[in-house]
Amino acid sequence: MLPTARRDSSFLDACRRRPVPHTPVWFMRQAGRSLPEYREARGGIPILEACTIPDLIVEITMQPVRRYAVDAAIFFSDIVVPLKAVGVDLDIKPGVGPVIADPIRDAAAVDRLRPLEPGDVPYAAEAVRSLTGELGDIPLIGFAGAPFTLASYLIEGGPSKNHERTKAMMYGEPELWARLLDRLSDIAIAYLKVQVEAGARAIQVFDSWVGGVSPADYRASVLPHSKKIFTAMEEYDVPRIHFGVGTGELLGLMGEAGADVVGVDWRVPLDDAVHRVEAGKALQGNLDPAILLAPWEVVEARAREILAQGRTAEGHVFNLGHGVLPNTDPGVLARLADLVHAESTR
Ligand code: CP3
Repeated sequence: MLPTARRDSSFLDACRRRPVPHTPVWFMRQAGRSLPEYREARGGIPILEACTIPDLIVEITMQPVRRYAVDAAIFFSDIVVPLKAVGVDLDIKPGVGPVIADPIRDAAAVDRLRPLEPGDVPYAAEAVRSLTGELGDIPLIGFAGAPFTLASYLIEGGPSKNHERTKAMMYGEPELWARLLDRLSDIAIAYLKVQVEAGARAIQVFDSWVGGVSPADYRASVLPHSKKIFTAMEEYDVPRIHFGVGTGELLGLMGEAGADVVGVDWRVPLDDAVHRVEAGKALQGNLDPAILLAPWEVVEARAREILAQGRTAEGHVFNLGHGVLPNTDPGVLARLADLVHAESTR
């Protein structure tokens, strides 16, 4: 096999703002969710257990790659897997999301959150190693949850609309907040290192729920912790993607945190996002996942528009503005991946 840097990948090249033969595409949440073969492979196995079974991780990660002409695969895991691995009592409830038995609300609870050791997640390294063989030239994206989003689950005890307790700690107990986020960045770093050292060729940090934080508070209370992750991953020379939802006002800061690629949701057109990030960043996004439920003519027109807007960026990775919705027709995703390639061939 060729050394990593020599193997062709339009995805890695676009992330690095190099010329590409066509715009690369992958879909957030492409593994799982809408695929019937995913439901069949999972059977009755709870999601968090599935994330610890190497053969199953490999199979589910490969499923979308077999169906769609995607230019990258995303590791099948979840942002809460490393938390469970360090002993946090949590579960993912179907249709709800992560639920924490004893939410973290005081110093004693923060101090109980221990660092992640590679030995806590042997299945992750094993699955990534098998995947890099199976995927050939298609890069595997490793991922982790960003400290704010992980903290919001841990503090609220589950999914939340307004992240009230989370923000109350951020505003009212800044030292405790910083200690918690620092521990969560270390956990994310350790989980990302396991994936990259086993062969993942890019990473994405999901800060899904940070969109409700103002730019000034993001800079003061969130950015230093996310930045710690991007800085720690710099030595591996893998593209680093930073994504959040409702983060239009934060795109510049999310780039500043150290990302090579800034993920954009569907609210901000890419040709506008270009002006919100500093020079030297690629963009990823940003078709509204709900558009995939509309007739094909609509999908096609909107995808072309995004490709045109993406051409104003130094590098563009086509993606959805958030994850694939569970009731999306896989046939539409297959057609969309082909359309992106056909329309963007240089
Ligand atoms: O293709 C992929 O992206 C698969 C790998 C993946 C999963 N979760 C598997 C999963 C990834 C990248 C994630 C990230 C994740 N998990 C995020 C960040 C991305 C985002 O969408 O914003 C967040 C916030 C979570 C937490 C989480 N886990 C939620 C909100 C849910 C949905 C709960 C539900 O049932 O609606 C999960 C469960 C989950 N994680 C599923 C999958 C495929 C669906 C549940 C299932 O299949 O049983």
